[in-house]
Amino acid sequence: MLPISNTASSDQPANSKPKTPEVLGRKNLFNTLKPYLSFHHRRLWFFLAVVLLQLLLLLSAPSIPLYRSTAGTPNPSPTSTSIATTSIISTINNNSTTSGSCPDGKVYIYDLPPLFNSEIVKNCHDLNPWSSRCDALSNSGFGKRATGISKVVPDNIRPAWFWTDQFSTELIYHNRMLNYRCRTLEPESATAFYIPFYTGLAIEKYLFTSNSTAKERDQYCKMMLDWVSDQPYLKKSNGWNHFISMGRISWDFRRSKEEDWGSSCIYMPKMRNITRLLIERNPWDYFDVGIPYPTGFHPSSATDVINWQEFVRTRRRNTLFCFAGATRGIIKNDFRGILLNQCYNESDSCRVVDCAGSKCANGTSEILSTFLDSNFCLQPRGDSFTRRSIFDCMVAGSIPVFFWHRSAYLQYEWFLPIKPESYSVFIDRNEVKNGTSIKSVLENISKEKVMKMREKVIEILPNIVYAKPNEGLEGIKDAFDVAVEGVLRRIKEQDGGYKWK
Ligand SMILES: *[C@@H]1O[C@H](CO)[C@@H](O)[C@H](O)[C@H]1NC(C)=O
Ligand SMILES: *[C@@H]1O[C@H](CO)[C@@H](O)[C@H](O)[C@H]1NC(C)=O
Ligand SMILES: *[C@@H]1O[C@H](CO)[C@@H](O)[C@H](O)[C@H]1NC(C)=O
Ligand SMILES: *[C@@H]1O[C@H](CO)[C@@H](O)[C@H](O)[C@H]1NC(C)=O
Ligand SMILES: *[C@@H]1O[C@H](CO)[C@@H](O)[C@H](O)[C@H]1NC(C)=O
Ligand SMILES: *[C@@H]1O[C@H](CO)[C@@H](O)[C@H](O)[C@H]1NC(C)=O
Ligand SMILES: *[C@@H]1O[C@H](CO)[C@@H](O)[C@H](O)[C@H]1NC(C)=O
Ligand SMILES: *[C@@H]1O[C@H](CO)[C@@H](O)[C@H](O)[C@H]1NC(C)=O
Repeated sequence: MLPISNTASSDQPANSKPKTPEVLGRKNLFNTLKPYLSFHHRRLWFFLAVVLLQLLLLLSAPSIPLYRSTAGTPNPSPTSTSIATTSIISTINNNSTTSGSCPDGKVYIYDLPPLFNSEIVKNCHDLNPWSSRCDALSNSGFGKRATGISKVVPDNIRPAWFWTDQFSTELIYHNRMLNYRCRTLEPESATAFYIPFYTGLAIEKYLFTSNSTAKERDQYCKMMLDWVSDQPYLKKSNGWNHFISMGRISWDFRRSKEEDWGSSCIYMPKMRNITRLLIERNPWDYFDVGIPYPTGFHPSSATDVINWQEFVRTRRRNTLFCFAGATRGIIKNDFRGILLNQCYNESDSCRVVDCAGSKCANGTSEILSTFLDSNFCLQPRGDSFTRRSIFDCMVAGSIPVFFWHRSAYLQYEWFLPIKPESYSVFIDRNEVKNGTSIKSVLENISKEKVMKMREKVIEILPNIVYAKPNEGLEGIKDAFDVAVEGVLRRIKEQDGGYKWK
């Protein structure tokens, strides 16, 4: 699918740095290296490593073969059609999004100074030391249209595909919130207060600049908290009815020591009771809420959703399982190295997409078509516990295989089915290390069970995508609706304030 942040077009000037930090899984590269580096020089080492990788990628970039897609032949069977009909009906809930009532209350959006949001986006060419972020942040955070996938995606759904950055939830949530049906302009009548600060975008530049100071990485967050606490509503509630979306993983905002990675935004005392929507949460912090990474699929209508569900349901899948990721930097003892070896070894049943370099970054459909062709996708932890790939996989109707509970089960409870075994496979990583063959485990799952799991993935698909229209979809709750309703419901339940134990 569209796993990287920037639309790295192949026609960049040769002297510009390749748009690769996302390809490198840059949110996490540091964590991968952490155990191998001296504690006191982490940031310097991190910077050097990134520069080195950039260089390698620059050298290896030109000769990437263009993937030729084998367009799937829709192959509907009588059973899958009947399941289709029931799940479409269950997906559309007449009451929730079409009715005017807001049973869980309304949201007030703080009118922050532009410095905290629109000016950051205006400055998109300068947010990142390597490349412009303007394309990625265009289109309300959805990015440019994904034209490169035309061979894989049917004509009628193609306009729903974008080249979306995985770190763009701050924009996506803000835009949707401005048009939210349960928005109120009167703070007195609000159940919840939304702070539209682009926390992650504000620090991106400083995360990846070797000489940035802890102060630089904290200043915006501190300024925002000072501004918000000057308003009467934060004081009144101790913060527990306030929320914010932070477009990166929690660990990027949890710096405890000056010299460490990231900002200390979440550790700032005024942030303590504010709920944060994050693509990866700290499962032990009640105020961290995990929300789906944005994928490239942004349906414009319920019809788009239904057409896509039908497309992935009837897709012929010739590969048992697949592994997509940047295989660079996988060190011998890395768990991903074991999976990769198994996958290469079982090449008749497993497909590897090696996203090293800019292979998956320049508009090709390699990843999307691999997920569409596979029954299962392996989702080991990467440099952090979660990966955008989990959602890319599920959107394509492929069944995720997890090795860590924290990759999904302890992250996205509001969005995924309660019973993990209903939509995913869990394999104990120690058994894999001990020689258990992934292939034998997956082959052992009956066809009927596979079909049921896939149907579950397809059923919850609307919960994990971000709809295109600013008002959301008629009759379907998408990830934004689920997240905001979840926050509202929680605030209502805690009426009177969060009970600290
Ligand atoms: C939704 O409304 C339509 C028309 O009003 C009706 O036919 C359909 O049965 C309703 N669906 C549900 C789930 O209530
Ligand atoms: C729709 O609303 C009616 C009455 O408000 C309620 O009885 C029914 O359960 C609701 N249906 C759904 C699918 O939420
Ligand atoms: C960091 O280095 C850049 C140039 O490499 C310079 O423009 C910037 O002012 C420096 N920042 C600090 C805090 O020293
Ligand atoms: C967080 O909430 C607790 C309990 O309501 C309160 O005692 C504490 O002062 C709050 N912290 C802040 C920074 O508002
Ligand atoms: C790959 O297959 C070869 C030959 O079947 C076998 O010797 C080797 O142990 C396998 N490697 C892995 C990692 O499974
Ligand atoms: C992606 O890169 C390959 C190899 O450099 C090139 O042939 C292809 O045209 C590029 N695709 C797009 C959509 O830019
Ligand atoms: C893996 O093998 C080790 C050593 O043989 C054994 O102690 C351990 O229990 C095994 N773990 C699993 C999960 O099978
Ligand atoms: C396959 O399934 C059978 C029966 O459910 C079980 O006994 C066997 O251990 C399974 N094999 C693997 C490799 O999981």
